[in-house]
Amino acid sequence: MNAGMITAAYIAASICFILSLGGLSAQKSSRRGNMFGMIGMAIAIIATVASDNVSSYTLLIVLMVVGGGIGAILANRVEMTSMPQLVAILHSFVGLAATLVGFASYLDHSVVLQGAEKTIHNIEVYIGILIGAVTFTGSVIAFGKLQGVIGSKPLMLPGRHVFNAAIGVACIYLGYVFLGAENTSIGMTPLLFMTALALIFGIHMVMAIGGADMPVVISMLNSYSGWAAAATGFMLSNDLLIITGALVGSSGAILSYIMCKAMNRKFFSVIMGGFGTPKASSSGAAAQTGEHTATNADETAELLRDAKSVVIVPGYGMAVAHAQHPVSELTRLLRDRGVNVRFAIHPVAGRMPGHMNVLLAEAKVPYDIVLEMDEINDDLPDTDVVVVIGANDTVNPSAMDDPGSPIAGMPVLEVWKAGTVIISKRSMAVGYAGVENPLFFKENSKMLFGDAKKSVDELVSALK
Ligand code: TAP
Repeated sequence: MNAGMITAAYIAASICFILSLGGLSAQKSSRRGNMFGMIGMAIAIIATVASDNVSSYTLLIVLMVVGGGIGAILANRVEMTSMPQLVAILHSFVGLAATLVGFASYLDHSVVLQGAEKTIHNIEVYIGILIGAVTFTGSVIAFGKLQGVIGSKPLMLPGRHVFNAAIGVACIYLGYVFLGAENTSIGMTPLLFMTALALIFGIHMVMAIGGADMPVVISMLNSYSGWAAAATGFMLSNDLLIITGALVGSSGAILSYIMCKAMNRKFFSVIMGGFGTPKASSSGAAAQTGEHTATNADETAELLRDAKSVVIVPGYGMAVAHAQHPVSELTRLLRDRGVNVRFAIHPVAGRMPGHMNVLLAEAKVPYDIVLEMDEINDDLPDTDVVVVIGANDTVNPSAMDDPGSPIAGMPVLEVWKAGTVIISKRSMAVGYAGVENPLFFKENSKMLFGDAKKSVDELVSALK
């Protein structure tokens, strides 16, 4: 392919990626958005493979078959509930690739640059490796936290802010030394030191972030991986990689902003770490030792039969239990009886942005009855029955009532204002943020214990 055709292919791929992002902004058009993304990626890969830069097809084909094969097997096997971990580990690959390309580009002696060009290229290398290394270890730790291999409690090292600041100052100084280096062998020393510091910083940054703030971490690492890719694009003079990286970087940054707003957190406070640490709670202890009331499927079915309006609040437990299909069936049965059924989706419900929307769409729940928290919170006091299915932190009143709670200030679905609240979960255990939930002890709350799928299946049978 000549240079003109490659440029045209890259422009076509970029347009597809922009259309893809546009499509993904709404549930109805997300399938189309995904399709554009796949077409764009296919164009990008074909154009890159056909470009004159490729010198060894054998190696390329072997690597593509191995990499593509592993990707296809993993994508086929991965559970919906493990998707966030998969995304985190994929971000780490982008970070690692940016770091390795940075070193390769620095050590590549086939292109000899002089003066300003050399300085600009070295700045690209330095920044690319810096962002790549932070993204790499940060994403590996995020993977560990989401997989449960590493505890979700924040690591609070004494003097951690000083430690971070010292790393920042050291990286600036090493950058100065690196840019002044006369040749690559002298430049490698500050570059390697900076890489080690960036790897440590990535680990420390994510270790210091508490469970409740993980949604922001995921979107932040998504953004970093985009900037790492963009930096790689600059190093390789690849326009498509720059555009794609900038799209991922900026959309990840917007998502981080949305997540911070949803959780009423300041972005800077989140990345400085420490939220999600249990503090002395003012009301917690008393509220958590109250009495809870258990119920069963027949009693709940009776309540639902008499209700005029029902709101279903899905959470992570619905995903784990694969309860979305029986929930969809329950919705259909109730709607057939004339009950006004709606879904209330908290922005951080589940383990990744849009997690609940994807599951409900898969189970063919109509889009127009799936509402965001802000759209439905005011209607909850007029709702007869709220059914909470595997949600916990997102319906925890202590976020509003208890300034000492680790999730204090996070807007939640105010389900306790409804006539009756049915909570389907297996036990009285805490949610991801590790915070006790006083909702379970409210007078109008009833616990429907058991696996969510089993419980909703029983409800459906009782209603039939
Ligand atoms: P959580 O607060 O995590 O609570 C989920 C509940 O589901 C648990 O209390 C658990 O109780 C129950 N559960 C687990 N398996 C179940 C099963 N098979 N059947 C029935 N119930 C089951 O969920 P949430 O309300 O969706 O809140 C999300 C949390 O994750 C927030 O803290 C959020 O910050 C965090 N987070 C979110 C994201 C994103 S981007 N959405 C990313 C990372 C972290 P039992 O064990 O008693 O059953």
